[in-house]
Amino acid sequence: MLKPQINHQTQSTKTLFPLEKPFLIGNGGQSFLLQIQSMPPSSNKAPKVRVGFSSSNIQAITSPFSTSWGSRKSDTINVKAVVTVTRTIGSIISDVTLDTDDLKDLMGRSLQLELVCAELDPKTGQEKPTVKAFAARDILASDLSNIKYKADFKVPLDFGEVGAIYVKNEHRTEFFLKDVVLEGFPNSPLKITCDSWIQPKSVEEKRIFFTYKSYLPSETPNGLEKLRSKELEKLRGNGQGRRKTSDRIYDYDVYNDLGSPDTDPNLARPVLGGKQNPYPRRGRTGRPPCKKDQNSESRDALVFYVPRDESFSGIKTATFGAKALYALLHSLIPTLTSLIMDRDRGFPYFTEIDKLFNEGVNLPKKTKASLVSVIPRLVKDVKDTADNILKFETPDAMDRDKFFWFRDEEFARQTLAGLNPYALQLVTEWPLKSKLDPEIYGPPQSAITKEIVEHEIRGFMTLEEALEQKKLFMLDYHDLLLPFVEKVRQQKDTSFYGSRTLFFLNPDGTLRPVAIELTRPPMDGKPQWKRVYTPSWHSTECWLWKIAKSHVLAHDSGYHQLVSHWLRTHCCTEPYIIATNRQLSAMHPIYRLLNPHFRYTMEINALARLALINAEGVIESSFSPGKDSIAFSSYIYDKQWRFDTEALPKDLISRGLAVEDRSAPHGVKLTIEDNPFANDGLVLWDIIKQWVTDYVNHYYPDPSLVESDKELQAWWSEIRNVGHGDKKDEPWWPVLKTSEDLIEIVTTIVWVTSGHHASVNFGQYTYGGYFPNRPTITRTNMPDEDQTEEKWKYFMEKPEAVLLETLPSQIQATKVMAVLDTLSTHSPEEEYLGDIVEPSWEQDPVINAAFQRFNGRLKDFEGVVDGRNADTNLKNRNGAGMMPYELLKPFSKAGVTGKGVPYSISI
Ligand SMILES: [Fe+2]
Repeated sequence: MLKPQINHQTQSTKTLFPLEKPFLIGNGGQSFLLQIQSMPPSSNKAPKVRVGFSSSNIQAITSPFSTSWGSRKSDTINVKAVVTVTRTIGSIISDVTLDTDDLKDLMGRSLQLELVCAELDPKTGQEKPTVKAFAARDILASDLSNIKYKADFKVPLDFGEVGAIYVKNEHRTEFFLKDVVLEGFPNSPLKITCDSWIQPKSVEEKRIFFTYKSYLPSETPNGLEKLRSKELEKLRGNGQGRRKTSDRIYDYDVYNDLGSPDTDPNLARPVLGGKQNPYPRRGRTGRPPCKKDQNSESRDALVFYVPRDESFSGIKTATFGAKALYALLHSLIPTLTSLIMDRDRGFPYFTEIDKLFNEGVNLPKKTKASLVSVIPRLVKDVKDTADNILKFETPDAMDRDKFFWFRDEEFARQTLAGLNPYALQLVTEWPLKSKLDPEIYGPPQSAITKEIVEHEIRGFMTLEEALEQKKLFMLDYHDLLLPFVEKVRQQKDTSFYGSRTLFFLNPDGTLRPVAIELTRPPMDGKPQWKRVYTPSWHSTECWLWKIAKSHVLAHDSGYHQLVSHWLRTHCCTEPYIIATNRQLSAMHPIYRLLNPHFRYTMEINALARLALINAEGVIESSFSPGKDSIAFSSYIYDKQWRFDTEALPKDLISRGLAVEDRSAPHGVKLTIEDNPFANDGLVLWDIIKQWVTDYVNHYYPDPSLVESDKELQAWWSEIRNVGHGDKKDEPWWPVLKTSEDLIEIVTTIVWVTSGHHASVNFGQYTYGGYFPNRPTITRTNMPDEDQTEEKWKYFMEKPEAVLLETLPSQIQATKVMAVLDTLSTHSPEEEYLGDIVEPSWEQDPVINAAFQRFNGRLKDFEGVVDGRNADTNLKNRNGAGMMPYELLKPFSKAGVTGKGVPYSISI
């Protein structure tokens, strides 16, 4: 028999500290010496191996031992717990003043812990009695960030392995429990990571936290089986009633809270989710319905419910982005709106736009004092005046090249290396033709002819050769936008078209724009109108081309924000988060793998519903589809979204930008070799996939375990049938039978929350901050549409004025610039992919080693990105005044950097 190894008690016992009365009161004199012992140095580091009682350890501790204060024999061992509670703003836990809770704290009666054995009692087949102890606040060990509590347990020698711990909060209000560290067992310390809000016992009797050990459902120790399913039941709730802030319930609902029909009939919006408007599900809040529309949920809350542990406000500056966005949407933008009286006023000169960066906009100081600290990059305190100013930083792209936005080659390059690399596709059919109903939308043939294309690519090849050699590419917003044109144009100061933009791949690997086609369907008694614009050497055609380009850029901006960004990352991820919490136990290895990828997302999405994508929110008021913006994203979800092509290689293949090639480094061969997003993205995809493969293979050594894992199967089924239930009957859903299936599914989810989101999010200010480069809306039609003599004369005399009148208004532009700046900002505590190991990963030596390799590959990849950006042969990322492509570079410092890939969608 092995002897128990609990000699740390003698090592770390300190008698130098003065007596602490609270411990004497709370725990009695006998345990005093243990109460004041400090953690051994090693306890700050989580162990590299699995710790706690293994089954062999259980047998190992059946011999009695000597305590540190004497040599008498005992049938228990002393186990000490150190509890870390994170200080929060407004928390009841404060050292400044003493209240009832503080006194309870000091008396050691505020926090009760219970150790739960992993195994049932072999004699009775019942759960073993738990071992309880109260924890008392440890003033000496507490600091500005955390409050420490200590507790002592007398654990029976035959107790067995600890599988979980109960925590009961005897305070009057909640607190945020970071972790509990147990000392005294063999291979201590045993760290239990909690990161959770603990409600007072009046709200929830007690909370359970499982140890770091991950178990597939079939491998759950018998003492934890019931607890595992009971906890999941709790998290699922019963689908009834209004959710309270303190609830932890994850449930589904449709998007029916974006409109406010009770306030104004014009603010009514369709319900998204269901047959008519397919959409992913959001988290259910259970607010009452609107009076004027029972199908819409009321918006009678300042903050929308998210399950308590999805809300991190007040704990970490990782929520800095959410806080800044909240301040921006609730304070700065309303102020701006009130300051700019003329909503329709545009910029009369380009120099007026420059003033936003040079001089700024005055803001009334008294209303904006708090904004200076929350969004200092935007709102600046001017010492000598009574006002603060809203002043924008010059975007990096403009800083490098003031005329970047004007040049056609940069317009083309940004389809590969800019903010929206998710739209360009290979032209595979000729002639171009609409698939929409000609009865409604007019003749389907494109006006882009072989002659027009060959005129632009003359000297290189014929159209047929260009098609054959895969040299023609397109931004195709024709059939996607045309059904919305008539509705959108009914909105004030808004123009809209269906558009096609054709590009030719030059021999040097760069793209050249060849033609833009704008189409208006038959409407207002007028027939279909369409026109093709091409780059030209004559001023009239040149200016028409520039204005047509602005229309296309507005289409691309809308598609980027509503589809590539909101729909495909933020919105589609929410059902994954809900299903993961409802169906996978916190001790499930896949839960633990995915958890960091879901942090902060529900909270930021709730904020988006509150003030960004709601009726007359920033998106509706500033992006081309206007009040049809979110309905447009539902249309695209219906027409385009599929889970399998969310995987980067399949996404590229689906757009003709790659073909499968098993001999190629990433299993695909790129159609455009110098495609910065695709090249960097594929490396990152492979790094993620390797990590997921190592992880999955460790927990599923036998592939059949995937199919027999009940929780995993329920999870995947719920994602398909409920969270994305409007598309449940689609044939492309991957099946989940083998470890390969699981690796592909998990890698796809991880890619969406990390690489995909970073690639479309953190360059928003760089490329959209100077809005002529990416206008979000166009307000006037082309000068040659329904051409009148007066309109044409104005264009011929003042083409620059026509372009400026086409671009967003002052209020639209400044609102969007402020939002893009905030969305592009990394918080000081940003959690970058593969940067810091999760506690549960670190505890398992195999997983920890895999993580270290993952981390190493990501660091190597940084060098690869730098090398590529320095390569003068790569003309789409290296050139005079050109932005390097860094959006998929893994790590970054805080701020607007245009690089850095966080684990999750946190802004
Ligand atoms: Fe985002």
